This record gives sequence, C-alpha cells and structure tokens, in this order.
Amino acid sequence: MNQTVENILQNKYINKDDIQFLLSLDKEGSERLFRRGHEIKTTLAGRKVFFRGLIEYSNICTKNCFYCGIRMDNNRYKRYTMSDEEVLETAKYAHDNNFASIVIQSGEQSSKAFSKSIENLLREIHTKTKGELHITLSLGEQTEETYKQWYNAGAHRYLLRIEVSNPALYAKLHPGDKRHTYNARLEALSLLRKTGYQVGTGVMIGLPFQTVSDLADDLCFFRDFDIDMVGMGPYIEHEDTPFWAYRDLIPSAADRVDLSIKMVAILRIIMPDINIAATTAMQTLDPRGRELAIYAGANVIMPNLTPVKYRDNYLLYENKPNVKDQPDETRKALEKHILAEGDEIGYGEWGDSRHFKNRNGKIIRKS
Ligand code: 5AD
Ligand code: SF4
Repeated sequence: MNQTVENILQNKYINKDDIQFLLSLDKEGSERLFRRGHEIKTTLAGRKVFFRGLIEYSNICTKNCFYCGIRMDNNRYKRYTMSDEEVLETAKYAHDNNFASIVIQSGEQSSKAFSKSIENLLREIHTKTKGELHITLSLGEQTEETYKQWYNAGAHRYLLRIEVSNPALYAKLHPGDKRHTYNARLEALSLLRKTGYQVGTGVMIGLPFQTVSDLADDLCFFRDFDIDMVGMGPYIEHEDTPFWAYRDLIPSAADRVDLSIKMVAILRIIMPDINIAATTAMQTLDPRGRELAIYAGANVIMPNLTPVKYRDNYLLYENKPNVKDQPDETRKALEKHILAEGDEIGYGEWGDSRHFKNRNGKIIRKS
C-alpha cells in the first residue's frame, strides 16, 4: 500500500518509517500534518500555552561542545554570573506577572560552591514567593547527590537535552574526552527520573551530518524514554565554534524551520499529553517560527527574563532575537501572538506535564 499522510495518521502506532515519511512531506502534506498536530493539541492537551520565565543565570561553562557559542574556549564573551539579588528580582517579576513558573539555565558548572548557590537561591525563591513559583532547572550534567540536593530545595522539573540520540553523531559534536560522553548524558536523564523530577529533553535539528533517519530516531527516543517535556529547535551556526567550518553542510534556514515544525507536530501526535516548547531558535530563523510551532502542537513558551545587560554574553548561536527587549515588551508581543492563534495563556498555573501526572498517578496542584 502506498503511504499517505491520512493512512499513517490513522494508525494506532506510528513507527520509524512512518515518521521518516512524515518528515519528508512536501508543503501540501506538511499542512495536513500541522493541522493534525493542531487538532490533537486542542483536543488532548488543551488550548493553553504556559509561560516559563527564562533566567540565564551564568554563561560560565566548563564544556566545549563544538556547536555552542558559550563553550569554554570561546574568549569573545565576558563571563558573568547573576547576583542573588538579580535572580530574586527576576523571579519576583515572573511571580508578580503571574507566570507561575521559571527556568534557571546556565552553562555547565559542577563545583560544590555552585550547587550550594543554586540550593540557596531555590530556597529563597520558594520563601519569597510563598511556594507559588514553580522552578525548572537547566544546569547540565550533575551528580545524583546534586540532583537530590536541588530537588529537596524545591526544584521539580529539569531540562537536559540529549542533543542528538545517535551516539555516533553525538561523538562528532563533542570533544572525545570523559566530560562529553553520550552514556553520561543518558545516565543523567535516568538519574533525574529516579530523583523524581519531571524530565525534559530535546535535540537540535538540521545539524551537519544529521539525517532524516536520525531525526526519526530522536522522536522514537523521546517516546521510548517516556519523556515528560521536550524542547527542540533548529541548529544555528556560530562563527566562534569549530562547527562553523561545516556551515555549508546544513539545510537552509527555511528547511530547518520546516523540519522543526514537523518534529513538533509529529511529537504531539505520538505523545499527546507531554509539554512541548516553542523554542527561541525557531524564532531566530523565522519571525513566525514560534507561532507556527504553537499552531502545530507546542504548548510552552519561555520568554527571556534575563537582565538585558547580560544578554549579549549568552549567545549560544548567532542572531539570537530580543537581545535588547525588556521583559514587558517580550511578554506583550507573545501574548498578542498567542491570543491571535486562538489559544490562551495559562497565567497563574504551573502547567505541569499531564504525561508526568498520568504516569505517576499523582495530582500535582497548586494549593
Ligand atoms: N544552535 C542551536 N541550539 C544550540 N544550543 C547550543 N548551541 C546551539 C546552536 N548553535 C542548544 C543546545 C543546548 C541548549 C541550551 O542550547 O541544545 O542544550
Ligand atoms: Fe556548555 Fe551547554 Fe554550550 Fe555545551 S551546549 S558548551 S554544556 S552551555
């Protein structure tokens, strides 16, 4: 039987071949795919989009991923760490504006002093916002002890991208030392799950050497791992990184955005109750990128709340947008776009992954 979008979408189980077919659809087929993602999202995940205020706490990183602008060996950026007061003020902004949730992100650091600073911040934010602000961490690979320390201090969600699920490709993207192994990354995801976090992961799309088969495997990986949240977006080349040398090997910006939206729509179809982010990288390559992702199935957006003075130094990739926008401007612009799509913003709601609740049989609610 010839494969068509319709007969694939009727299948109870969509396998890797089907996913590859869907990722290769032309414009007309893609529109049907996006519509299906949209239908599933609106019927099964709801019409709410949740805001997570993003705080880029520090750009100090001890790693050297070949694709990333803030890798340790890049001397172009001034390294910073936000003061506790700045973090608390930003968290207060999120709380006052009813965001209900923030993400603290940083380059990877693993000193005891770093774990302790984060623990203290978690406790302070918890006290100052009367436990109302939900905190997600995105602080890289850490020991089990550290994951527990932060969980006990009040963090309940953790984002750690697998980056690519193909171990051979992972090895191409990272230095071949002990600090950059695929197995450690995988192990970290398992430890996070074991500790009790809602676990988020994700990949980059349109990397040099990456194939459509790799991307189909990425989606199968999310399903096999039974992940709670996903944030994925296009790879964007950066001049100060070793991977700049391969910039001629990547798909065009438009194709990377198209692939990213397809990935979102397919993921929404195969995992209807997880949280899926519309990422900033999508918007970087196409001003409408994030809205397209929201239409096709994403239900989380992470407005950048980092104080403007630091943003020029947290450039993971080139042309990162809104580097100068104050949080109020970003929020209002996003609000307008989301309402225009017919969705509403889940103000004051934690917006936990329904998938996590369903798996754990727990109801996590704001008291
Ligand atoms: N393009 C797109 N995403 C990138 N990241 C790092 N460098 C790039 C890049 N050049 C992503 C990685 C990382 C996250 C914080 O940013 O997936 O996990
Ligand atoms: Fe550091 Fe993360 Fe960038 Fe790798 S991707 S260099 S760990 S900030």
